[in-house]
Amino acid sequence: MLNVAILAAGKGTRMESSLPKVLHKLSGKTLLQRVLDSCNELKPNRIFIIVGHKSNEVENSGIKSKNIQFIVQNPQKGTGHAIQVLSQQVKKHEGKLLVLNGDVPLIKSETLQKLINFHDSKTADVSLLTTNKKDPYGYGRVFTKDNLVEKIIEEKDCNNDQRQNSLVNAGIYCFNWISLSKIINTLKSNNKQKEIYLTDTITLLKKSYSLEIKDNAELEGINNRLQLSKCEDTIQTIIKKKHMIKGVTFINPASCTISEESIIGLDVIIEANTHIRGNSKISNNCTIGPNTYIKDTTVNENCEIINSTVFNSEIMDHVNIGPYSHIRPNCEISSYCKIGNFVEIKNSQLEEKVKVNHLSYIGDSKVGKYTNIGAGTITANFDGSKKHQTNIGKNSSIGANTVLIAPINLGESVTTGAGSVITKDSQNNSLAIARSKQVNIENWKKNDS
Ligand code: UD1
Ligand code: MG
Repeated sequence: MLNVAILAAGKGTRMESSLPKVLHKLSGKTLLQRVLDSCNELKPNRIFIIVGHKSNEVENSGIKSKNIQFIVQNPQKGTGHAIQVLSQQVKKHEGKLLVLNGDVPLIKSETLQKLINFHDSKTADVSLLTTNKKDPYGYGRVFTKDNLVEKIIEEKDCNNDQRQNSLVNAGIYCFNWISLSKIINTLKSNNKQKEIYLTDTITLLKKSYSLEIKDNAELEGINNRLQLSKCEDTIQTIIKKKHMIKGVTFINPASCTISEESIIGLDVIIEANTHIRGNSKISNNCTIGPNTYIKDTTVNENCEIINSTVFNSEIMDHVNIGPYSHIRPNCEISSYCKIGNFVEIKNSQLEEKVKVNHLSYIGDSKVGKYTNIGAGTITANFDGSKKHQTNIGKNSSIGANTVLIAPINLGESVTTGAGSVITKDSQNNSLAIARSKQVNIENWKKNDS
């Protein structure tokens, strides 16, 4: 039987943040969710999350996982105390207890599985992941003797000699839960930080083994924002490498960020300072960027999106967007459409080959195919309390600076005069013009005063 405990009760003082440390995000996912994702792949029987500092925030952070039970540790007297609280609140202590620090977010499930297999093969009381770090500063140092782990000494409790030891504790342990239960309540807090350390269980248990793995970013613990940024870099480098190997060109990869979930097709060119977030899909032969932000959006083949922002929308093939367009949620932009500079579109469907080339706002609208929306056209969709719909039929020509006061329906092949404020529906093949006539006064003399 495999049980998991994730330690997530600490304040994370070194983050200098009002947000609990485990809720900080890496590439869009909280540290806690990342640890949980790796644990879930092991299909454990139960997962306990130890919460304490701002426990409500952590519990309500939108965690995606089954079988979890929150254990509240209040006050937080250290990592050993967290497991004491767990052992008091959960009566049945059977099988293995895999304990993970909630601030070691890049740990892979394969590595956890290796630790479990190693633990089983040794019939150990505890097995822990260790690594040799070039710069071990901040980590607990691991001391071994005759193949067993003798003790772990925290950075702050080390003397100068001990500090030279570069074998560090990753904060990930597999315990025999029954063995652990027998000694967990005997932990003391006689150390510099006056905390109850989980690491002291290692000395109290007989068969303590270390599984040393190669130093890679996987075991990086996050205690401050420098470490957070280092992990972000690690994740982004992996994501971009994966795409490059699979046929995506990045002109300046360092300036771009891509979510893990995003899918990018063949021969896509990602220009500098481009960010593809959430669940986005970019199909073959698109050029995206420079300076573009796309979130939760599908972009079909052969599109070009330059200097623009696109949220939660569907862009069909051969569409040109930008520079400086803003596509807000719920838009469907059909094939061969052109959306130009300073155009904002929201909750609207544009059929094939519609052009909205300059300075327009199209909201809550349906625009039929081949229609041209003139520069400066505004759909006035909000009457102060409600939003209203605008429908424009196919083959229409909306004159420059037309204001369409919604709700309004224009038929097919409708033309509107430039500068019109259109308040009435108009039928197929009509010209709608609503502006005052020009008056020319001859021999007009300027007032000299
Ligand atoms: C800990 C280990 C250290 C190891 C390092 C690896 C101890 C005493 N030290 O140090 O040997 O090298 O991790 O990253 O365990 N937490 C609680 N309740 C508490 C205190 C902490 O749940 O009362 C949680 C924190 O939220 C955090 C985790 O335990 O997720 C680790 O705590 P942290 O203070 O970051 O320990 P480190 O100093 O990093
Ligand atoms: Mg830590």
